[in-house]
Amino acid sequence: MVGQAIGTKLVQAGNHVTMGSRSASNESALAWAAPLGERATCATFAGAAAAGEIAFDCTSGAHSVRVLGAVEPDLRGKILIHVGNPLDFSRGMPPSLTVCNTDSLGEQAQRALPATHVVKALNTMNCDVMVDPALVPGDHHLFLCGNDARAKASVTRHLHEWFGWKPANVIDLGDITASRGMEMILPLWLRIWQVLGDAHFNVRVMHGG
Ligand SMILES: NC(=O)c1ccc[n+]([C@@H]2O[C@H](COP(=O)([O-])OP(=O)(O)OC[C@H]3O[C@@H](n4cnc5c(N)ncnc54)[C@H](OP(=O)(O)O)[C@@H]3O)[C@@H](O)[C@H]2O)c1
Repeated sequence: MVGQAIGTKLVQAGNHVTMGSRSASNESALAWAAPLGERATCATFAGAAAAGEIAFDCTSGAHSVRVLGAVEPDLRGKILIHVGNPLDFSRGMPPSLTVCNTDSLGEQAQRALPATHVVKALNTMNCDVMVDPALVPGDHHLFLCGNDARAKASVTRHLHEWFGWKPANVIDLGDITASRGMEMILPLWLRIWQVLGDAHFNVRVMHGG
């Protein structure tokens, strides 16, 4: 869902996108690429990591760190936008968090990729809203964090160019440890989704200063 939403928008904006999967002949990935033309291609996770200038990790949280560790050499020196959430659905709904409080999936990803600039972003909203913030009226906010200021500035610029996120609505929460809070919002997000019956909502931060 997330990889295809992001990939489609990026291709439509003129970028080349390689969709990674466990298999280069993943049927869902091939069906995604077919109508998008030559700028959309499919590969293994390693192939996608090698092809991209900037990578998105949109893998299931339960497998994210293992997948990233396996493609570590291909991501050195690059920016990785980490979108995944550490959700464990093995005991049904609602899912629980596999990691929280003193660690996070974003930090685990950064540890697995010591030579990559991991920027945690976009994980606190539904994928339709990620790529089209105008689905939610008015100003609302996107959180990001990471250890490298230049990588975060670059991601902020790209999120504006690619998806239309106003830089003023992007809140930089600091280093990668802020992933903890960004991921721990998920139980609240899931309950709001259940109550509203609709995923097209987001958080707006108001302050009096
Ligand atoms: N859905 C949303 O709107 C949303 C919003 C915010 C954040 N997120 C987070 O974004 C991530 C992606 O979510 P999603 O809903 O698009 O899909 P998902 O079903 O959570 O994840 C699909 C991805 O995980 C990979 N995967 C699944 N099982 C695997 C395994 N055993 N080993 C290695 N890779 C495996 C899949 O690879 P294959 O292609 O090979 O199957 C595919 O790349 C999740 O971490 C989710 O929590 C989702």
